[in-house]
Amino acid sequence: MSSTQSRYHEVYARWKADPEGFWAEAAREIDWIKPADKVFDAAAGAYGTWFAGAVCNTCYNAVDRHAATRGDQAAIIYDSPVTNSKRSISYAELRDEVATLAAVLQDMGVQKGDRVVIYMPMIPEAAFAMLACARIGAIHSVVFGGFAAKELATRIDDAKPKAILSASCGIEGARTIPYKPLLDEAITLSTSKPDACLVYQRPQCEASLIKGRDLDWQKTVAGARQAGKQAECVPVASTDPLYVLYTSGTTGKPKGVVRDNGGYMVALKWSMGNFFGVEPGEVFWAASDVGWVVGHSYIVYAPLLQGCTAILYEGKPVGTPDAGAYWRVIADHGVVTLFTAPTAFRAIKKEDPNADLLKQYDLAAFRALFLAGERADPDTVKWAEDILKVPVIDHWWQTETGWPVVGNPLGLGALPVKHGSPTVPLPGYTVQVLDEGGKQVPPSTMGAIVIKLPLPPGALPTLWQAEERFRDAYLSVYPGYYNTSDAGYIDEDGYVWVMGRTDDIINVAGHRLSTGGMEEVLASHPAVAECAVIGVKDALKGEVPCGFVVLKSGVQKTPEEIEKDLIGLVREKIGPVAAFKIAITVPRLPKTRSGKILRGTMKKIADGDPWTTPATIDDPIILEEIGDVLKARGLAG
Ligand code: COA
Ligand code: AMP
Repeated sequence: MSSTQSRYHEVYARWKADPEGFWAEAAREIDWIKPADKVFDAAAGAYGTWFAGAVCNTCYNAVDRHAATRGDQAAIIYDSPVTNSKRSISYAELRDEVATLAAVLQDMGVQKGDRVVIYMPMIPEAAFAMLACARIGAIHSVVFGGFAAKELATRIDDAKPKAILSASCGIEGARTIPYKPLLDEAITLSTSKPDACLVYQRPQCEASLIKGRDLDWQKTVAGARQAGKQAECVPVASTDPLYVLYTSGTTGKPKGVVRDNGGYMVALKWSMGNFFGVEPGEVFWAASDVGWVVGHSYIVYAPLLQGCTAILYEGKPVGTPDAGAYWRVIADHGVVTLFTAPTAFRAIKKEDPNADLLKQYDLAAFRALFLAGERADPDTVKWAEDILKVPVIDHWWQTETGWPVVGNPLGLGALPVKHGSPTVPLPGYTVQVLDEGGKQVPPSTMGAIVIKLPLPPGALPTLWQAEERFRDAYLSVYPGYYNTSDAGYIDEDGYVWVMGRTDDIINVAGHRLSTGGMEEVLASHPAVAECAVIGVKDALKGEVPCGFVVLKSGVQKTPEEIEKDLIGLVREKIGPVAAFKIAITVPRLPKTRSGKILRGTMKKIADGDPWTTPATIDDPIILEEIGDVLKARGLAG
């Protein structure tokens, strides 16, 4: 479709002319217990507040109202090649599961406003847990299963949960990963202890339970069901937090992104029809994990708010069992739209470059592929377009925003594609590019990508109990704007090009990680004097971390032994998801005369990109040394 056929420009202009009217209209799609007194209250919150005074319940909108009208339709289809099982849960069954689990939570002492940490693999109970919290106004905080005990402990200490919901194990390909020992260790490490833990026992590995603290999920839920216990939806303020999702910040301490109820529902519901172009009753699949924002927004809440069938997939794009896994799921369940990270398609392309496995499946219902989470490289996008023959839509957003900022709005009629650009800002967002002095730059000039305040409904109002950090990290850098910490440019046609982060965040297989956090771990090793971690290009994962260490003099162990220690240490402290597999000992690190490590230049050398010696460098020879060490390891370029 050409741009003249798309309704995008008209809809964007309508939003721009009257943002409050635009969102008030979108809000009619939601069932409110009490409507807002003010669609937008500019005087409240750090940058204003959406739907002030409104009362609602997110679980009601995602589950109960569909149970009444489309009760027999599948709400969630769990597809798990790693356990060789499938399960379809109708909206009526989902209501029953969630209401019963919510009653169990209440019996555990969880009340409105209490936090509940969810540390679970990709099983339907993870979604039940999130919705059960939403039902009773408890604030969930889902922690990704690939994080180690220490990372879980940090989140427990910040969220101070009343209860933790977990499972005995996760299944990663052919491996069973016990979760319970990690949970126990995290609780030992944390200063804030939960009153109770509810543990889902998977047959692949039974966990031992601690008396007085741990409850067996299945037995407790069965007991509540037998007693006929069901919790009703508890009214909450639209502005009350629905969840806190921790994401990597520029230090080892993650940021607790707060999401409210009402604004989030309005934005997600709008995005399903107008951006993704998906209608109620259709099958929508986000191949991510409930531990990430994509999982919160597009595995659980948005598809359910839209009355779709959501796929919850426990498996990988390759190896479970092969590179045809995604095609099999699409064909088996009549998926119309798939959302995943580009890395998944790079993995499939690597295994099956001619997409031979695709020929075995009927993808007649399939309409579009959406990619986000990291830069979508044009080669991967073109490959996906070639093999699938449907629109492949790159879109850019962040944990903080909760829903897409820039994208090609399929629901409004797609605009012409420019490979490498996620296309245009969506209604709600005025995206600009600023120079270091905070001035808008001319078209096609690189700078900091910012969003003019206020942020739209659904985006974070603040960080969990860290309002000052919120203002410092996002609002004070460019007054009047939200700083995305991404760099890029906007071209003459208004297309946004997102080229990389301006901070220490890297994207590894679509997973957001802080190199600063990894440096903190390396620096804790007794043999390490100094260190620097950078993200280096990787053909599969986009980027992988690479650590440079300078050892203290007089260290007994060999550099090889220490490098091995360091790889183990990052895995132990942050988790396998960090994919930290390269540690390199160097005699010294390149620095400016004021002592700042030249990470940017090191990255260019490692990536084989053109680089120049910074004028402020202390000793230019060191950059050559770094280049030589990288070459010796087969890494430079
Ligand atoms: N629980 C426990 N461990 C986990 C985990 C979880 N939920 N998720 C990942 N891990 C482990 C992996 O097993 C792996 O461990 P290993 O070092 O022992 O092999 C490590 O963390 C790194 O995981 P990952 O980066 O996912 O690498 P992978 O080699 O297992 O798979 C891809 C690579 C590309 C197939 C995979 O990352 C993928 O499917 N990504 C695309 C979709 C996606 O999830 N995007 C995220 C947000 S949209
Ligand atoms: P997360 O909070 O995990 O969703 O990660 C957000 C970050 O991922 C963004 O700030 C970007 O750096 C990167 N990112 C996400 N989507 C894209 C995209 N489509 N193109 C480029 N970078 C992206």
